[in-house]
Amino acid sequence: MASKGKIAVVGSGLIGHSWAMLFASAGYNVTIYDRDSNVSLAALKTIEKELRELEANQLLRGNLSAEEQLKCITRTESLEDCVKNSFFVQESVPENEELKKIVFQKLDQLATDDVILCSSTSCITPSKLSENMKHKTQVIVAHPCNPPYYVPVVEIIPTSVTKPEVLSKTVDLMKEIGQKPVVCKKEIYGAAINRMQYAIINECWRLVQDGVMSVEDVDAVMSEGLGMRYAFLGTFETCHLNANGMIDYCERYAKGIHNVSETFGPVPKMEGNVAEEIHRQMCEKVPLHSLDVRRKWRDDRLACLAKLKKTLNQ
Ligand SMILES: NC(=O)c1ccc[n+]([C@@H]2O[C@H](COP(=O)([O-])OP(=O)(O)OC[C@H]3O[C@@H](n4cnc5c(N)ncnc54)[C@H](O)[C@@H]3O)[C@@H](O)[C@H]2O)c1
Repeated sequence: MASKGKIAVVGSGLIGHSWAMLFASAGYNVTIYDRDSNVSLAALKTIEKELRELEANQLLRGNLSAEEQLKCITRTESLEDCVKNSFFVQESVPENEELKKIVFQKLDQLATDDVILCSSTSCITPSKLSENMKHKTQVIVAHPCNPPYYVPVVEIIPTSVTKPEVLSKTVDLMKEIGQKPVVCKKEIYGAAINRMQYAIINECWRLVQDGVMSVEDVDAVMSEGLGMRYAFLGTFETCHLNANGMIDYCERYAKGIHNVSETFGPVPKMEGNVAEEIHRQMCEKVPLHSLDVRRKWRDDRLACLAKLKKTLNQ
């Protein structure tokens, strides 16, 4: 097997271990590092189990066997070894600005002038992460959507000083591993995925808080309604098709949309009685002790959907 370049994955929790699998699916040599060596050991075991299951279910990505992909992934207990000779570093430590800044300072010391330093951060802007760094022009964000192995979108966020080739190489790498990169042309707090997601969470919350609907019914609006379309069409294309094009849609519906939107209440703080009530109703459906079983259920269905979409797009 021809050896490709080396990629460092720093932090091997939920997202880090998924990145390792994605990079290995394209034959990259991945080295994972975690501050807690038990976590990186456990990550290797999880990866092995998941790759074998994916292969058995014919859902493995790429052209290599599970065994070959597994051989692409190693672990180290030294950040220096992890980063050494890597052309790309994917940081996936917890979402804590101070912690991430410390990690990026260490990466800055270990970085060559051409390595790409990429963060999985959900909400921290890349210019914040890189503000005091020598290699700040090599910093970029690739924020995936969980679970990344089954949900391909990844938002790529350069800073105003990120080198253009860092952006283009990151986009190309994401495409190569089978993800769908979307680019934020400028930094914005929360970027696109979470801003869109939070707008939905806020309105769902208000519908329950105001006694309009049960938690189960709010969720059904998405899973049996809007989500059915959104699995194939984006918001704007949905509008375009729901009328005779976007201009017609605006002429027909803009006033109503604006009027309804003006009645949206304040942004919920997501705490107190309403949080407890939503939790109670959710636990009736999915008790806390069965979360892992339900996650597996989710991943299996997402994998089937991904397969269906691939077949339909062929
Ligand atoms: N979980 C999600 O749904 C999701 C989705 C997209 C992006 N993200 C982002 O991905 C990043 C990682 O999230 P996660 O859910 O995988 O977190 P996680 O807690 O599952 O994993 C983080 C890992 O980093 C390790 N770690 C902590 N400090 C470290 C250090 N200094 N050096 C090396 N390793 C260290 C921890 O031991 C842990 O294993 C976060 O920035 C998060 O916002 C998460």
